[in-house]
Amino acid sequence: MLAAVCCAAWGRAYGETKAIRPGEVWLDGRGQQIQAHGGGILKVKDTYYWFGEDRTQTNDPAKRYVACYSSKNLTEWKYRGQVFVADDPEKLGRGFVLERPKVYYNAKTKKFVMYVHLDSPSYRLARVGVAVSDKVDGPYKYVKSFRPLDQESRDIGQFIDDDGSAYLIFESRPTGGFYIAKLSDDFMTVEKEMSFIHAPLEGGAIVHYKGLYYVLGSHLSGWRPNPIVYATATSLEGPWSERKNVAPPEVNTYDSQSSMLVKVAGKKTTTVIYMGDRWLSKTLWDSRYVWMPVQIGDGNFVLPKPEPWTLNVKTGEAKVVGAQ
Ligand code: DGJ
Repeated sequence: MLAAVCCAAWGRAYGETKAIRPGEVWLDGRGQQIQAHGGGILKVKDTYYWFGEDRTQTNDPAKRYVACYSSKNLTEWKYRGQVFVADDPEKLGRGFVLERPKVYYNAKTKKFVMYVHLDSPSYRLARVGVAVSDKVDGPYKYVKSFRPLDQESRDIGQFIDDDGSAYLIFESRPTGGFYIAKLSDDFMTVEKEMSFIHAPLEGGAIVHYKGLYYVLGSHLSGWRPNPIVYATATSLEGPWSERKNVAPPEVNTYDSQSSMLVKVAGKKTTTVIYMGDRWLSKTLWDSRYVWMPVQIGDGNFVLPKPEPWTLNVKTGEAKVVGAQ
């Protein structure tokens, strides 16, 4: 009986067809629920690495953890460990905040550079924290914290353009907007403002698709979902178009909040994946992931209703397979 339960759970998570099942429990190769909330994806050669907040219930409550998983197909994930364990590096006290980790690889320094939203329990510090490793799967060593462009910074997002240039998106409450900023050559600091978008939006994410940049952001409603909006521009410096909803406003982005847009350019086609979190604020460890291929092009961006789907990373093709 136990075996049947175990295999049913495994089958649901991966599916016979190895489907991605938005909103369902997503298990790693060990059969444990993936802990990579508010996450980001870094591709190294032909392997994808998924970093995110590890909210495991048995974690030491005085520390904060970033977990890493690896995959060649973006569907089945191997646990690589808790690659960054933060032991309150800025002495912010019990309940300090470490959210939305994002990892960049700097080809010049050959270092993996992790950015996190680092904050006091009251969210007043509003800084980024930076940790570095020689290996993608850590261990990452804490280096410093700062306010990018001297602005308060809470939710962060990551964007790496097709030419390898690296950007941080950060929400900056007192300015009433968010920034898209270029990292320095060594990725250790935030150097240049590309755009300031005067709209109180967080959960920022960008994709560059067929000559247009699409930026997404959610409104500010804590852990509760709201209708995410997007804008487009031919340059990261703007000007940005008017903002539109990615889905009918009443579905509240299908109960999710953006963490990243992942572009999979295959031999036949290119798929853009919306990577979002369905937060469960009282049981954060059980928060789910809403990943869906989006309908994108000619300035339009639509997040379809989440349904199980499969991805072929070689061809770039995504196929909705529906509930099975
Ligand atoms: C919304 C943010 O996007 C999350 O990362 C988290 O900071 C919550 N707010 C906290 O309320």
